[in-house]
Amino acid sequence: MCGIIACAGVKCAAKLLYGGLEDLEYRGYDSAGISVLDKGNIVTVKRKGRVCELKPLVQKLCGSAGIGHTRWATHGKPSDANAHPHSSDRFSVVHNGIIENYAQLKGELAAEGAAFFSATDSEVVVRLLEKYYRGDLKEAVLCTVERLKGAFALCILCSEYEGFVAVRYRNPLIVGEGGGASYAASDMPALSGLCKNVAVLQDGTVAFAKGGEISFCDFKGRPLSLTFAPVPASVRTRGLCGFPHYMIKEINEIPAAVKNTVAAFEEQGCRQALARTAKRRGFSQVVLCGCGTAYNSALAATYGAEELLGIPVRAETAGEFRYRQTSAGAGTLFVAVSQSGETADTVEAARAAKKSGAYVAAVTNVPYSALTSVADIVIPVRAGTEVCVAATKSYCGQIAALALLFGALGGASQYKKAMRDACGAVAMCAKAISDCLSEDAARACASSSCVYFIGRGTDYPVALEGSLKLREVSYIPGEGYPAGELKHGTLALIDGSTLTVAVITQRELSEKVASAVEQICSRGGRAGVVCAEGCAPASLKGRVEFFMEVPACRGMLSPAVAVIPLQLLAYRTAVMLGRDPDKPRNLAKSVTVE
Ligand code: M6R
Repeated sequence: MCGIIACAGVKCAAKLLYGGLEDLEYRGYDSAGISVLDKGNIVTVKRKGRVCELKPLVQKLCGSAGIGHTRWATHGKPSDANAHPHSSDRFSVVHNGIIENYAQLKGELAAEGAAFFSATDSEVVVRLLEKYYRGDLKEAVLCTVERLKGAFALCILCSEYEGFVAVRYRNPLIVGEGGGASYAASDMPALSGLCKNVAVLQDGTVAFAKGGEISFCDFKGRPLSLTFAPVPASVRTRGLCGFPHYMIKEINEIPAAVKNTVAAFEEQGCRQALARTAKRRGFSQVVLCGCGTAYNSALAATYGAEELLGIPVRAETAGEFRYRQTSAGAGTLFVAVSQSGETADTVEAARAAKKSGAYVAAVTNVPYSALTSVADIVIPVRAGTEVCVAATKSYCGQIAALALLFGALGGASQYKKAMRDACGAVAMCAKAISDCLSEDAARACASSSCVYFIGRGTDYPVALEGSLKLREVSYIPGEGYPAGELKHGTLALIDGSTLTVAVITQRELSEKVASAVEQICSRGGRAGVVCAEGCAPASLKGRVEFFMEVPACRGMLSPAVAVIPLQLLAYRTAVMLGRDPDKPRNLAKSVTVE
């Protein structure tokens, strides 16, 4: 949800900010802009469209300090006027988040004579800074943040200050220093090429950066001291490495994601910590929460877990969980699953669970994220930086981490089994990637008006994920269903223009799913099958348009293998239809607003 960046004390701010915005573009890509401070004047360029639209505009910009923004629109449609930065003569501001009381503030400021030039909530920040500025920048910033409700990460330029100000409240912001310069950005990969040492701002922090000096205070102006640490090697992105898109590069990184997640679980002593806590607290239920793909991996993990632990285990979408009276309490293990660790609903759901007494585990790919600061224990996913908006390798890493988590709770022999399954899945994932070319399947999808995905048991959450992936990157409508549910309504939509993809990896359920496919074909619907070796029902041979086979993987790792042909199918369909799979329309990778 919007990427922001700032620098001070550099040779050419515009060039550097432009590069940083390219790294942050996965957070939003409907408009972009840069302001630089050039000999006491703020110069701004901004445009509707992707970051590359700025390229011709930044060439002539000079200045040693500046701020930049790449937008995912919340308030106000994508346009030049609504693009950030928002400026006055003295200030320029970029914002990630939502100012919830913007309408009230706008009314108040307009009544006092302030002019507004955009439909955004963010513009009130620059007008407030003007209102409160009496020659003291710190005072103006503190008075301004005191008026804001909602979530905000801000970077501010002032024509009378040779640097920038950064503010964090409930949206991520990281500062960096090195070589006589200072930096700030929404995430670490954007800073990793610029500086060696970084510090993650906590909520309620203001940073004043000038040259290589950064000082910090809280929202009351009281000084804070922050510890800088080297940028972890794991956050460095290495570009496309010869792949045409990040999506396919990241699918190819799945075996490494699973392997590294397993290693991290051991290295960080998660098994011992979980076993100790389980003994001390005696959990009576497990609630898993996440959004989108993270919810799908959480749901997949519930299947084996309930049998294994003998206590209720359920998954909920975080956006629903956070707003209802929950039954999470002292006996609850609450597992928040999130690639970014910044998804607003998931972080707030974890806060709500913690408040009600639950023990909170964060399963996340980003070790310095907001979710980790809420959690009692962090279960690492080591998928490496995921750039493509569509989550792929992080899903498989989450499946591995959750299998180990439940194995650890289940006792020594269960843990051993989970370990064996997770290690075995690495090679199976690699085989699924190399075997599932899916060109015919992609053609079948690309020519369909609607694609349904069905499965039973653990194949049902896999069907949900396959459907999400295809919708997200190809824009073909569809849905995921438990195989038995289609005939309770949706079968009415089946005709020759629709395709149904059946996921069949559970041998004991294969004939049941095959019957559902027969019912579809008998009504003129088209179908394809993703199955595990040895699971293909003979009755379907010749009846369906394609078969894709994956290695037979039993146990809780099965979804990590079964999902791969579906990810490849979504990718190839998107490419066939001329979509950009890395940056699907209307989406952003990190959903830090409600
Ligand atoms: O960073 P998170 O895992 O919390 O993100 C949750 C969802 O926004 C995310 O999985 C989204 O559904 C993906 N774009 C799916 O590919």
